[in-house]
Amino acid sequence: MGFSHKHLLGIESLRPDEITTLLDLADQYVDLNRRDVKHSDALAGLTQINMFFENSTRTQASFELAGKRLGADVMNMAMQASSIKKGETLIDTAMTLNAMHPDLLVVRHPHSGAVDLLAQKVNCAVLNAGDGRHEHPTQALLDALTIRRAKGRLHRLNIAICGDIAHSRVARSNIILLGKMENRIRLIGPPTLMPSEISAFGVEVYEDMEQGLKDVDVVMMLRLQKERMDGGFIPSEREYYHRYGLDADKLAHAKDDAIVMHPGPMNRGVEIDGEIADDINRSVIQEQVEMGVAVRMAAMDLLAQNLRANPTVEV
Ligand code: NCD
Repeated sequence: MGFSHKHLLGIESLRPDEITTLLDLADQYVDLNRRDVKHSDALAGLTQINMFFENSTRTQASFELAGKRLGADVMNMAMQASSIKKGETLIDTAMTLNAMHPDLLVVRHPHSGAVDLLAQKVNCAVLNAGDGRHEHPTQALLDALTIRRAKGRLHRLNIAICGDIAHSRVARSNIILLGKMENRIRLIGPPTLMPSEISAFGVEVYEDMEQGLKDVDVVMMLRLQKERMDGGFIPSEREYYHRYGLDADKLAHAKDDAIVMHPGPMNRGVEIDGEIADDINRSVIQEQVEMGVAVRMAAMDLLAQNLRANPTVEV
């Protein structure tokens, strides 16, 4: 039991009971964040550095707020797109920062595997804030917390993940997490946006939204990741919206109490109808943002506890 990791690099290495431990602690931080005085000393005296080699608004803000609410000294490094260089430069940057004795390093990088590589070179705890198409563990954890609070459980649910699966680290981390917790996962999207290794995931695959959404409890929409596309993946955004955009007609095939999720940022009118996104009876998109801060507080708290207790715990 407990949470015995030095880093949070992905969902892959977490056991179901560790996921539950983290979500239970996050629930407590949701309560703290709703109070007038939102402060704890869990990270007091520790230094947190955020290194985002890819643009981010909500994830970076969420990690920053999480660290500040726990009393850490938080620094944001502005890593412009132009400074993204090859492996050696990333490691050099990491070694330079390492020499300043940070305790928590939060890293987003456009290359899959870059954050794992970096974690091998530094002494501090590393949190993956999204690496290429690989993993985005805190997003999957915040989605899991949102689902658990809305549905009262995180197992035996029918969950549809829809749209641009191939380019999505959010989808990948969610498939792993929701699979570990024994949910039934359906992926819905055009074949051009399905990853080639899909059969290894143990999921059902649908090309048609209406069929795929039938009787699901959770509808998770994904952003069309235009910046990661280099060919003709979709005929046009209009056509995509017509076939795969979530609107009231398509949502009517899900269960009456199905919730609608989106990690943000949203392309309204491309993957989701603006009215559905804003419908407080169905959409939990704002809750996802709220849960994000709490989940990141829980993750950093657990890693800091391990750092303090045993600097050589397992990776
Ligand atoms: C996601 C990401 O960056 O992977 N967004 C986020 O974390 N806020 C999803 C996306 O960019 O579509």
